[in-house]
Amino acid sequence: MKLAASLLAADFARLADEVRRVEGAVDCLHLDVMDGHFVPNLTFGPVVANALRPHTWLPFEIHLMIERPTLYAPQFEVGPDDFVTFHVEAADPPEETIQVIRGLGCKVGISLRPGTDLDAVAPHLGAVDLVLVMSVEPGFGGQAFRPESLARIRALRREIGDRPVGIAVDGGIGPSNVRSVVEAGADLIVAGSAIFGEPDPHAATLELWKRAGYTRSS
Ligand code: DX5
Ligand code: ZN
Repeated sequence: MKLAASLLAADFARLADEVRRVEGAVDCLHLDVMDGHFVPNLTFGPVVANALRPHTWLPFEIHLMIERPTLYAPQFEVGPDDFVTFHVEAADPPEETIQVIRGLGCKVGISLRPGTDLDAVAPHLGAVDLVLVMSVEPGFGGQAFRPESLARIRALRREIGDRPVGIAVDGGIGPSNVRSVVEAGADLIVAGSAIFGEPDPHAATLELWKRAGYTRSS
């Protein structure tokens, strides 16, 4: 398992400090980019993500919840360890978006809403590095995990077979359900409120590792 801290639940006025609190205990940072159009909420874009880039060595997983990923993905400063993830339901054709993101020299993720059939991502599994399964309706942190996501993760794992594609799961994950999500087949767990919504985010990450069945002490 790998663990990503979603900054959506962090204090946006002190992002670099927030990152430092979890840096040794997570594998990457999940950045939720929302355009107030694809989802009914606004967060931040490339200006903020690029400003944060020099403050941490952690890879970024940039989750684009925006209608036109081909227009904005190129504005993010990314390297070979970073992911840029777009939604299959967005307005741009997925094949084109994959090509644009690949051209940035980073890894490519494709995401889908809880109500979108897995068949929508199946044709792209040979061209992406990651599928980000949304276990809540995208747009807001702190929502309840949708239990039907577990069957979707298992089905996706079967569909992927032995192709080198990871499964990330995003939304409503905390100490009580992290183990079931990993057991269903998730490689990367995304957690926002379960980390930055807690008084001690570092201790909260260690608790997630423990509840998932792993020992992590840093
Ligand atoms: C929701 C975002 C998530 C969100 C998860 O649209 O994509 O990444 O931060 O937050 P929690 O872990 O609080 O559900
Ligand atoms: Zn997200």
